[in-house]
Amino acid sequence: MEKSYLHNPVLLKEVIDFLNPAPGQIIVDATIGGAGHSEQILRRITPGGMLIGIDRDEEALRLASERLRPFEGSFKLINKNFKYLKEILKDMGVSKANGIVFDLGISSIQMEAWQRGFSIKNDGPLDMRMDRSQNLTAKDLVNRFRETELSEIIRDSGEERFYRRIAKRIVEERRHKEISTTAELSDIILRSLPYSHNKYKIHPATRTFQAIRIKVNDELGSIQEALNALPEALEKSARCCVISFHSLEDRIAKNTFKEFKAMGLFNVLTKKPVMAEGEEVVSNPRSRSAKLRAGERL
Ligand SMILES: C[S@@+](CC[C@H](N)C(=O)[O-])C[C@H]1O[C@@H](n2cnc3c(N)ncnc32)[C@H](O)[C@@H]1O
Repeated sequence: MEKSYLHNPVLLKEVIDFLNPAPGQIIVDATIGGAGHSEQILRRITPGGMLIGIDRDEEALRLASERLRPFEGSFKLINKNFKYLKEILKDMGVSKANGIVFDLGISSIQMEAWQRGFSIKNDGPLDMRMDRSQNLTAKDLVNRFRETELSEIIRDSGEERFYRRIAKRIVEERRHKEISTTAELSDIILRSLPYSHNKYKIHPATRTFQAIRIKVNDELGSIQEALNALPEALEKSARCCVISFHSLEDRIAKNTFKEFKAMGLFNVLTKKPVMAEGEEVVSNPRSRSAKLRAGERL
């Protein structure tokens, strides 16, 4: 497979150390993406084990199946939202798994494909759907949602302090012309902000793009639903790893594990989230904002 089609798995060693996969086990990769984590898990659970790889993006599953070809027969790929975790396991006749990993958000493969419309840097259609069979696109959201709704989305899912200005400018601009591309949106955001973008550490449109992506894909709702299913989905002593890339996701993982602990269902293995360090931070920029939390079913 061409290197450009491979996604560099984040915190791989740490995930493997926590899950400690062994031959014969059933492990769920709820966000299989480019199958970086799954490949290493399969090395450890075969012979005899089974990896269940979930992704709501059909294209991701196609690439994953190519990468995992050497393990044919030891994995099943499921094209669904991971919020249906309980149903997915039930349909497969699996009562409980020996480990589950979530590596949230989008992959670098999705980010780099301009056609998918996730990227601020590569101009493309305003799309941002992980599941391309879904109706709602970023273009619908940006052109049809009311100013108050846009403003709330950018504030709550982007944690962007200039949410009001940005929403107002979007609504003004779309009166003249439909906003259709990521470059158009990024330009509108830049023009709505008070300072030169040179003052920002990240691209000034990053938070707004994140907010729109989260809303289009109902990311936070899906994470909460899937995590709620963990006590039922995990064997005793089985572990779950959640890698998140922004504070909203991390908060959901942290609070859910905490609640399970209070209910006597879970042991929390990470007092503070584990973060990438050293060489990984240098070689994989995506790892810089990654936070890993792990829990163990009691
Ligand atoms: C960061 S990537 C995973 C990369 C993977 N761990 C690897 O090593 O290549 C996240 C993947 O999860 C998928 N995804 C995100 N949210 C999802 C959801 N709610 N249900 C199913 N798949 C989801 C995305 O489509 C994407 O392919």
